Amino acid sequence: MSETGSHDNVSDEKLPSAQENGHGTVATADDPFADPGMPPHEPRVQDVDERAAKRSERVVAMLFTASMLATVGFIASFVAIPVDKFVYIWPMGNIGALNFALGTTLGVALFCIGAGAVHWARTLMSDHELVDERHQVAAEPDTRAKVMEDFRQGAKESALGRRPLIRRTMFGALALVPLSGVVLLRDLGPLPEDKLEHTLWAKGKLLVNENTHEPLRPEDITVGSLTFAMPEGLDEHDEDFQKEIAKAALMLVRLEPEDIKDKRELDWSHEGIVAYSKICTHVGCPVSLYEQQTHHVLCPCHQSTFDLSDGARVIFGPAGHALPQLKISVNNDGFLEAQGDFEEPVGPAYWERRA
Ligand code: FES
Repeated sequence: MSETGSHDNVSDEKLPSAQENGHGTVATADDPFADPGMPPHEPRVQDVDERAAKRSERVVAMLFTASMLATVGFIASFVAIPVDKFVYIWPMGNIGALNFALGTTLGVALFCIGAGAVHWARTLMSDHELVDERHQVAAEPDTRAKVMEDFRQGAKESALGRRPLIRRTMFGALALVPLSGVVLLRDLGPLPEDKLEHTLWAKGKLLVNENTHEPLRPEDITVGSLTFAMPEGLDEHDEDFQKEIAKAALMLVRLEPEDIKDKRELDWSHEGIVAYSKICTHVGCPVSLYEQQTHHVLCPCHQSTFDLSDGARVIFGPAGHALPQLKISVNNDGFLEAQGDFEEPVGPAYWERRA
């Protein structure tokens, strides 16, 4: 690798032309596509004017400082803006204020680091033109040593040691920007405490078909089918619908009573119809695949498999807990109804269950 320009001894001196410096060849009639070689090195204004260099240094520092402020803004937005607050942003319309603020501040923080680094490289780092001769792919030991030497030289020429303002603001920006990821960890909590221990199911609540919204009778549940149900009174237009259905979602299967191995399960069923929470006890996906021959239901997310003929215990996969069962019976009008709430929390079982 050889240099064609000189940065450290900046002057008006004209560097040799491509042909003169030996890197280019002159075009001839026989060789019209001759290598033109490197153009003469042109010093930048920052190379010849220390005031211009200082201006560039301040611009770089300003960008890194803006990145730090944006990161602080990101954290402040995360803490201060409620999740359910919306703002009108043209032309997108109403969007979540928190998402908008997080996206904007994180974007500005990352952009300013990138822009600062680019401006620094373009105006203050060495811009020597270099010729890198082709060589074998496998580097020789002395080539590797040369690379390391070039690297050290590059580090020296980046002027990091001579420009403490850039160094400090850059390290400040790089140190702060990961905090954006750290504060997001707050969304892993808090623990649900007792929120999953109570659903809308209660004694006397009718089981309503999740698709038709009609109350279910035992004859609606046929052998081999999987029927999804929800508590009566739950309306899709309710503000809390998603929150409540996420806990109360139920699946019904009709088994032959003699196939039910678990005594309690038999007691809690009606004529072989068993009702279980549809929410997987691994991380909460809806369980949805039923195999009639084996009475197994499968969660499509990570393949946890539950045996509905044996208390919905886990027979395969990462789920650590059986699906909670809902005790059901039939009322005087012939409709299926709940005999109470689930006896234990529904959903993921990775926190301590009290029930
Ligand atoms: S959520 Fe059901 S197996 Fe993972």
